[in-house]
Order: sequence, then C-alpha cells, then structure tokens
Amino acid sequence: MKKIIDLIEQEIALAFEAAGYDRKYAKVTLSNRPDLCEYQCNGAMAGAKVYKKAPIMIAKDVIAKLTEKKYIADIEAVNPGFINIKANADAVAEYLNEMKADKELGIEKAKEPKMILVDYGGPNVAKPLHVGHLRSAVIGESIKRIARKMGHKVLGDIHLGDWGYQMGLIVTELQKRQPDLPYFDDSFDGEYPEEAPFTIEELEEIYPTASGKAKEDEAYREEALHATYLLQNGHKGYTAVWKHIMGVSVADLKKNYKNLNVEFDLWKGESDAQAYIPDMIADLKEKGFAHEDQGALVIDVREEADTKEIPPCMIQKSDGASLYGTTDLATLIQREEDYHPDHIIYIVDKRQELHFVQVFRAAKKTGIVPGETKLSFLGFGTMNGKDGKPFKTREGGVMRLENLIAEIEDEMYQKITDNRTVEEKEAKETAGIVGLSAIRYGDLSNQASKDYIFDVDRFTSFEGNTGPYILYTIVRIKSILNKYIAGGASLEGLRMEAASNGSEKALMLEVTKYNEVLENAYEELAPHKICAYIYDLSNAFNRFYHETKILSEENGERKKSYIALLVLTKEVLESCIDVLGFEAPERM
Ligand code: ARG
Repeated sequence: MKKIIDLIEQEIALAFEAAGYDRKYAKVTLSNRPDLCEYQCNGAMAGAKVYKKAPIMIAKDVIAKLTEKKYIADIEAVNPGFINIKANADAVAEYLNEMKADKELGIEKAKEPKMILVDYGGPNVAKPLHVGHLRSAVIGESIKRIARKMGHKVLGDIHLGDWGYQMGLIVTELQKRQPDLPYFDDSFDGEYPEEAPFTIEELEEIYPTASGKAKEDEAYREEALHATYLLQNGHKGYTAVWKHIMGVSVADLKKNYKNLNVEFDLWKGESDAQAYIPDMIADLKEKGFAHEDQGALVIDVREEADTKEIPPCMIQKSDGASLYGTTDLATLIQREEDYHPDHIIYIVDKRQELHFVQVFRAAKKTGIVPGETKLSFLGFGTMNGKDGKPFKTREGGVMRLENLIAEIEDEMYQKITDNRTVEEKEAKETAGIVGLSAIRYGDLSNQASKDYIFDVDRFTSFEGNTGPYILYTIVRIKSILNKYIAGGASLEGLRMEAASNGSEKALMLEVTKYNEVLENAYEELAPHKICAYIYDLSNAFNRFYHETKILSEENGERKKSYIALLVLTKEVLESCIDVLGFEAPERM
C-alpha cells in the first residue's frame, strides 16, 4: 500500500502545480506541533526565495488551489508560511480497513528481492558466550527479520571464531594435561576416539587457563602459536582435537542461542575459509595485489581521499599463519561462490571498524567481491553497567550470558508473582517471555552504534519505554478481545469507521505509519526506529483505552469499529515485536 503521508503529499503537490509552483516544494512531514495539526508542509518557505514572494502568500495560493481532498480534511496557512494539515477521518478509517484486509498489513514487499547475508553472532568457540555477544545476536537477528519482512531473501551466518590462536592454546594445554592421548602421538594410525576428552565445563576452564599461561610464559606462547600453525596446515591429531572442541562447543552454543530466540541459517566459521586460502594467496600474489612487507604479505588499501592513515590489510604473517583479515577475505570468496549475495551486512563491535574498512576495500580492489555488491558494517557500541563501565558481574568478572538471562528472569518472576496469584509453571514461562523482551528491547531501543547502560530495574519495569510495557499493552488488548468474544461476539468482518474522538484518531494515525516505519528501519538498518514507533503506538493506545468505554459502548456499530481498531493495533504491535525477536504472552 502507498504510505498515507505520500497520499497526502500527492494532493498537496497537485495544488502546488495548479498554483504555478514546482511540486518539489510539496514535501509533507509529520507535524512537530501535534497540538495544532497532524501533518505539515514547509515548502512555501523553501519556495519564497525562488518565487520572490512572501511564504504566507505562496501557502495561501496553494490552499486556494487544493481541489483533490480525499485525504486532507483541514488545511491552514500559518505565519510565516507553514501549511498545517489534518487528515480526513473517513479516509484514515478506509486506509486502515484496507490495511487490515491485507495479510502484510500494508507493507510493499520488494519487487526484486535481494539476496542478503547477515554476518552476526560471531562467538568464539570454546569461550563462553558473554554479554558482549548479546548485542551482535540481538541486533543481527532483528536486521535479518526486518529484511525478510520487506520481502528479501536473507541468510543469517553465525561466522564462528573457530580457527585462531585460541584453538592452538587449547591443544597445547590439553597436551600438557593428557600427553598420552592418541592425538599427540604422531605414530598413531588407528581410529581416534569418538568421545571428546573434555566436557564443555572443562573446555571453558582450559581456555582461560591456557590463555593466562601464554601471557606469562613466552615458551608456552610459542608452543601455542606453533600448534595453531600446525592445525591450520592439517595436522591430523590436532584436527581431531579441533573437531571435538567444535562438537562440544557448538552443541552448547546452539542451546544458548535457542534460549535467546536467535536462529542462524548457516553455522559456518573462520575454519570454512581455510580451503580457499592457499589459492587466494597465490592469486593475489600473481595479480600483483599482494606484496611483501617486512616478511608479511599485505594488500594496500589506502585511498586518495583518506583523511586518516588506513594501514594495509595483512593476509599472511611472516610465519605463514593466516590472520583475521585472511579468513574474512577468503570467506567472501566462499560466499560469492555459494550465494552470490547482493548485500552483506556485518554486525560487529564498532571497535572493529578499521578491520572492516580494510577487508571491504581489499575485497573490492581485488575483485573478490563484484563492484555492485554492497558491503555494510553495522558497528555496535558497548553495553555498560550503571557505573558507565563495561557490564560486569557484581564481583567484577565477565558476566556470562546465561547468568544475565537468569537474573532478568528471576526479576520478572518476582514482579509477576507480586502482581497476582498465578501458578508456578505459568509464572516461570511468562517470566521467560517477558524477560527476553526486557533484554532485547533494552538493547534495540538504542541506536546500535551508541554505548548504552544495561539497567536491570529500568528494563524490567512495566512502565516507560521498555519491552514489558509494550507486552503489557498487547496483553491488555488481548484481554479486551477475549472478553468481547466471551460475550458471544465474533471478530470476523469488523470494519473501522471515522474516529469519534481525538485519542481514537491519534491512535488510528499511529497505526497507519506501520509500513513507513518498517521500510525506513530496513533502509537505515535501524531497529531502534521500530522500538520508538511501538512505544508511541502503545502510548496512543493506552490514552485511547483510558478515555474510551470500549466494551460498554452502547452504539453497536461504534463498538465494532473500536474492536476492529484493537484487532489491527494488536496485529501491528505483534508484527513489530516479531521482527525485534520477541513475542507476547497470553497474560502477565
Ligand atoms: N569472532 C569475532 C569476535 O568475537 C567476530 C566475528 C565477526 N564477523 C566477521 N566476519 N569477522 O570478535
């Protein structure tokens, strides 16, 4: 469906033309004085210079020539030259009825769907998920869902960190602890055991221990680096250990992401790039893109317009080992071969921006990625605690994601059981659902690139700009609809009529914005715009609810119209929270 604001603009544009002015001045925006009007056009001000006329004169000319008035009810020229507009309540109701009849609720799906790949999550195997991984998962999941809603073909890839130095560290530490394992016996040529020589808990202890030792002890570090090198070059026993690490770790990651309601289509990782690396390096050397620099192999990525120094992209260390840039470039080759994406979006900590500038430039310059393919880096800020420093446990350690989720769920459970008497099982389930909304909305309601403060009290509150408040609103609507049905009425075939009061019209206008908001959130990769929208929409609904007797309305047609508006409001809210990655419970 066309956006309602464009339909209004269309009528204004015709009037500009009829009055002899260019239609480009007919831009209509939402009003920034909602007390005076709903929409406004400031084009008369912009045109004043060109037409050498007072803006108010232009505004009056335009209004005098307004003949098409399906969507415009009131229009007024206000000094110094604003055009203030109110929408026609009948047309708004008709627009909403059309929205309600459309299963996409008015969204225009992409006519030529793009193949989009979202690279998000990015956990490192054998290290527990910590809160830093939360942001990538939550933002990426939402970007993926928004793009899908707009009709694109989207794949989410977790891009595991499974090929670096941490693997060498684990191999080294394991070898010290259990030197007799067959993986470390070069003469062993039987079948390696199927069962891993460690559990996830052990693995999560081995890695930090090894990492600590390597920092203290240079010889240990050398050993781990060498083990990494051997692994990357196909050492049989180490590869078998690596497979065990992957098996144990991935099973644990799957469980954790499932709890977060995050789903990846592809579980690929840095290790999958390995197969492409030798040919890539040979090719880059041969074509003259890569050259040696102090023993390492690099690609120059400086550009003339640079205002700051962009160092070359390193693709091989002097000892022959691959780097982060190597696996990212090789992964692009693999993605190009397998999916030929139109757009790849990386959702990674903004401190990695330089790395991605280097990789993107190298990929374009060398033709690894075709010129028309879009590469975007959506860098996110840090999640801080109330003290403004990166979020930590009470004891000051790194907070594990599981523990954070558990803490929020406990908090929600308390609130739910304080509110009303409810069965233990239901309360637990609801706490899980609402807790997730608190975490996700708390994160997504901020512009991704900004740091934000993770404030458990604020995020779990049922009031204010929070996930639980949005869910509370949806639950309130559900409860009214259930009562309506319980009274013997049906939700089928209900239609909206023109609004009968101010808060109803305000709610209706909010609902009409749905397609515009989603399109905009997609174009700008900005889930926070959806959060801002559903907060406004929930506020508009709650105002309407407090000012209107809905179920006790005596005029039968009016009551049906209210109910139709409730149904549509609920559908819009639910569709929005779905793309944000959470859902509403039945009661709370
Ligand atoms: N594993 C990386 C980290 O923890 C993030 C990976 C991001 N994706 C990528 N293609 N580099 O920092």
